[in-house]
Amino acid sequence: MKIFEEIESEVQSYARSFPRVFHRAKGEFLYDDNGVGYLDFLAGAGTLNYGHNNPLFKNALMDYIAEDGITHGLDLHTRAKGRFLESFNEKILKPRNLDYVVQFTGPTGTNAVEAALKLARNVTGRENVIAFTNGFHGVSLGALAATGNSHHRGASGASLNGVTRMPYDGYMGEDIDTTAYLDKLLSDSSSGVDTPAAVIVETVQGEGGINAASCDWLRNLETVCRKHGMLLIVDDIQAGCGRTGSFFSFEEAGITPDIVTLSKSLSGYGLPLAVVLFKPELDQWQPGEHNGTFRGNNLAFVTATAAIEHYWSDDKFASEIQRKGEYVARRLQAIVDQSGQGNFTTLGRGMFQGINCVNGELAGEITRKAFKKGLIIETSGADDQVIKFLCPLIISQENLERGIDIVEDAIREVCASESSITQAEDYFEDVVKAA
Ligand SMILES: Cc1ncc(COP(=O)(O)O)c(C=O)c1O
Repeated sequence: MKIFEEIESEVQSYARSFPRVFHRAKGEFLYDDNGVGYLDFLAGAGTLNYGHNNPLFKNALMDYIAEDGITHGLDLHTRAKGRFLESFNEKILKPRNLDYVVQFTGPTGTNAVEAALKLARNVTGRENVIAFTNGFHGVSLGALAATGNSHHRGASGASLNGVTRMPYDGYMGEDIDTTAYLDKLLSDSSSGVDTPAAVIVETVQGEGGINAASCDWLRNLETVCRKHGMLLIVDDIQAGCGRTGSFFSFEEAGITPDIVTLSKSLSGYGLPLAVVLFKPELDQWQPGEHNGTFRGNNLAFVTATAAIEHYWSDDKFASEIQRKGEYVARRLQAIVDQSGQGNFTTLGRGMFQGINCVNGELAGEITRKAFKKGLIIETSGADDQVIKFLCPLIISQENLERGIDIVEDAIREVCASESSITQAEDYFEDVVKAA
């Protein structure tokens, strides 16, 4: 561990929560240097939907490397890229009636968001973009302006411009449709909100605390976009690639975004890959206007193609995710019914769910205890108050149950010690009062 303390920057974050040296990984397990296995309910923050080192993709990758297939090719046409595009078009876009062109950006999610925002601004000739409370879109400057979290925003060292913040679904209370507020502001020429180029939204806010927008809210948002001539960008970097139960997280709502960003689990293997999808009429880029040395990762094309061919050629995988999602929802509901003195709540949809423990310290204590019991699970939300269940979608039923059992035990233990502390505090308060 010494070398990490000696020369790795203080910026490290997940490594602080799980202070081990990890060495191997398989499926839903990570193994440390001593061979101790941990169930992985973090899954690369949504990058490992198909598990670690999925053998189907590993074999395709090893064959490709053995044949001296192209590893790096800038944006040259390669056979691997061609196959990915064919698969993506035939198995993902066409069956969903989505007519999009595909732009390969630099390989991180934030770079895809940068490209999406640039495109929307250039096409419409407007600067303002609507982003939502608790939204997370990355930490490079353009994307960071759309991100809500003050911890990340505070590090920018520069002004973050061109974004107007609006309340996300549920932010003002359950019964308030915040798209009506957006519509009202945009309909009033004196509201002070400049006509936006676009709205950028996550259908389920991952880093912002597993807040899931309702299908009605998403449909209303699309209507407001059409009414005011704004482009609708769905940032599907974390919620996409099956996490919510369908390939794109917006399918259930039946909306058609103008622009979609994808990354994280797109490559299927944890290899970096990011794309922006958009309607053909928006393809007004000049050659190389948005570029990057690593746009289009050929190794990732090989594994992404294998993932699409294997998991998305029919509905079986989507049904499996939905079934597991229902199981998770039932279990988490039972846990919150029994714990947290009625203050805990469940959040999310599909295999993108969480428990809101209201208080970040409590949620942190629970995840630390879970780690001691062999489970890697993280928190999210403004105060890290939400325990975020993000296990690989291919997890076995047995290990899914086991992971949730561990959280349940950890919650029971933490809440038991919390209530004994509260009881002791009450007792001492009474003693002091009596004295
Ligand atoms: C919705 C969303 N957008 C963008 C990003 C940024 O992706 P990256 O960390 O690869 O830059 C993330 C990362 O968590 C995300 O969840």
